Amino acid sequence: MKKHLFLFSFLVCAVAAGAQTVNIAVHPSQGTQKISRHIYGQFAEHLGTCIYGGLWVGEDSEIPNTQGYRTDVLEALKRLRIPNLRWPGGCFADEYHWMDGIGPRENRPKMSNNNWGGLIEDNSFGTHEFLNLCEILGCEPYVSANVGSGTVEELAKWVEYMTSDGDTPMANLRRQNGRDKAWKVHFIGVGNESWGCGGNMRPEYYADLYRRYSTYCRNYDGNRLFKIASGAGDYDLHWTETLMQQVGTRMNGISLHYYTVTGWHGPKGSATDFDAEDFYWTIGKCLDIENVIRQHIAVMDKYDKAKRVGLMVDEWGTWWEPEPGTQLFQQNTLRDAFVAALSLNVFHKYTDRIRMANIAQIVNVLQSMILTRGDKMVLTPTYYVFEMYRPHQDATFLPLDIDTPTRTVRDDRVVPVVDATASRDADGRIHLSLVNIDVDKAQRVRISLDEVKPVRISGTILTSKKITDLNTFEKPNRVKPEPFKGAKLAGGVVEVTLPAHAIVALEVE
Ligand code: AHR
Repeated sequence: MKKHLFLFSFLVCAVAAGAQTVNIAVHPSQGTQKISRHIYGQFAEHLGTCIYGGLWVGEDSEIPNTQGYRTDVLEALKRLRIPNLRWPGGCFADEYHWMDGIGPRENRPKMSNNNWGGLIEDNSFGTHEFLNLCEILGCEPYVSANVGSGTVEELAKWVEYMTSDGDTPMANLRRQNGRDKAWKVHFIGVGNESWGCGGNMRPEYYADLYRRYSTYCRNYDGNRLFKIASGAGDYDLHWTETLMQQVGTRMNGISLHYYTVTGWHGPKGSATDFDAEDFYWTIGKCLDIENVIRQHIAVMDKYDKAKRVGLMVDEWGTWWEPEPGTQLFQQNTLRDAFVAALSLNVFHKYTDRIRMANIAQIVNVLQSMILTRGDKMVLTPTYYVFEMYRPHQDATFLPLDIDTPTRTVRDDRVVPVVDATASRDADGRIHLSLVNIDVDKAQRVRISLDEVKPVRISGTILTSKKITDLNTFEKPNRVKPEPFKGAKLAGGVVEVTLPAHAIVALEVE
């Protein structure tokens, strides 16, 4: 405890003399939109050790498991209240043939995972293992289907296998494989990155394929599919425009992928070895997602004023150089936690159009919640942001105005020093999340809530001595949330001393 008090005083003592107060005005009565819990979605691909080793070890493993799933990982994920899980890819999805992943495991054919190092995939984690995992986690499955190298028939049968309760051939096959009752599958992705690893298509061609493949994704026995078209990467507005024109409301959602990455070609930068300028650059690149989102939404608004089609940011997060000898396994520092918090803040703002987002990926790949090595597990700083932000799930988004200093970072991007988001939950409590990106200086923040005069406040903080701090298998608890004592009520407003490089979650009543 003493150590934390010391750390807190160390972090706040750097408030610059005469520094400007950051003013935040939250407008509770203007809240109309619900923040879909699906914005807190996750993604699990057959890539590196995400599935094998990360989520699944099999019943015979010495690693403690529950029906083959790692017990430690399951328990940690349950605490996040994951709303949905996307699977099996990513790029893997467009080479995946689901029939190879059903039936007795010893009979399942092997395949080469061509996108990810040509590793041999033994298909021991297939449809049953995935959908049962979702049931255990209490989340909705988001199945990403193969359009690149799969057939219409294959997809049609997969939907029937998963969701038909009738006396149909695929439902009977599922029963033979040990599952009587159909699962409920709402979200289905029709291809992934069809402009790239999913088939290198032009949007006009993909639009027709989408129309064809999605036609045969049937609604069985009360199951209602929400069909998601493979959407653009970054600023590819032409892709979105073509799909909105040629597919329109035949799709329930269109995806968007945006990574905080230094550049697709050439080195992507170290996950752990960076300085303050690199940190600020990362914040700028991360926040650029707002420009990308706005531009895609503007295109969508042209064709769909009623906002019937959702924008699904079903891949986002940081992408650094992988650890040597791994497939996309990267460490996760306090910097990654900032990317998580700031991205979620952006998604909240556009919640009338953004119906889902999936951070890439859940375990052991890119910006993970959890890292595993053998029987060890660590929770990353990103995990803790998802935990601290949990109250925003399905809460009402509260608009706010913020008057903050800004900072010009490399590539001439201008970023706010303090960022914030607010929501009100079903019980009337207001949740405020505050981010101070300043590496060195604490900020004085004053928050007014219009007619709401809070009487009680509590908070949690995520910070550490250095922005490069991280949790390792040897020191798994270096970066984790602590109770926050730097907020007080004064005459109906909230006054906060926000330590340098800190993320704070406040609850006010
Ligand atoms: O998340 C890793 C990869 O990034 C996915 O497989 C692909 O869709 C994207 O390019």
